[in-house]
Amino acid sequence: MTDGISDGISNGATRRWGWALTGSGHFFTESIELIRELNDVDLFVSAAADEVLRMYRKDKEVLPASTRIFKETTASSVPVGQFYEGIYHTLIVSPASSNTVAKCVYGISDTLVTNCFAQAGKCRVHTIVFACDTAPEMMTMAPKGPVPVYPRRIDLENTAKLKEFDDCTVVESIAELRGAIDARRAWLASEAKAANG
Ligand SMILES: Cc1cc2nc3c(=O)[nH]c(=O)nc-3n(C[C@H](O)[C@H](O)[C@H](O)COP(=O)(O)O)c2cc1C
Repeated sequence: MTDGISDGISNGATRRWGWALTGSGHFFTESIELIRELNDVDLFVSAAADEVLRMYRKDKEVLPASTRIFKETTASSVPVGQFYEGIYHTLIVSPASSNTVAKCVYGISDTLVTNCFAQAGKCRVHTIVFACDTAPEMMTMAPKGPVPVYPRRIDLENTAKLKEFDDCTVVESIAELRGAIDARRAWLASEAKAANG
């Protein structure tokens, strides 16, 4: 981290950020930039994100040494068991594809990322989702440059439904995502202060 505040220290154990990457190219590189600013991140990479990562990632991007990466290699999403060990203080899903948002809204958890979202909810871990479908007309970044995209009514309805979930903050821009992360950091700092008397 860059501001000197520890991320999620509680009872002597360092809790971690969970960050789930989907195969959405919308603000993909910006999401990677934000991950690089955090310490103690567990990165959950959907099978689609693993492919898209290779199309968008710049050669020299290096994640902090404290970052652990979990890929979609098991049918039952084995790494999400860690949500039950109290490891995570926050889950961030950014960027969240239309596919993942739709599954999350309807309670489907058949991928690594949708499982993270479901288990975070069941373990009362606060979740921040950067949904990629936020307006009927948008510009998005394809691997070869910006292109227009027109999210369908179903996509926009799903984003709206996600906003009704308990303990879930839906953000619609990188500025809002930064704000939500800062709010979490402030909450973590106050929690640590209270724990230390
Ligand atoms: C280069 C590239 C960019 C993509 N960008 C988006 C996007 O911005 N939004 C989206 O919903 N899907 C996008 N997709 C499609 C998703 O990768 C696809 O729906 C995938 O099934 C999502 O799986 P996941 O939600 O498990 O990660 C993109 C695919 C490719 C190859």
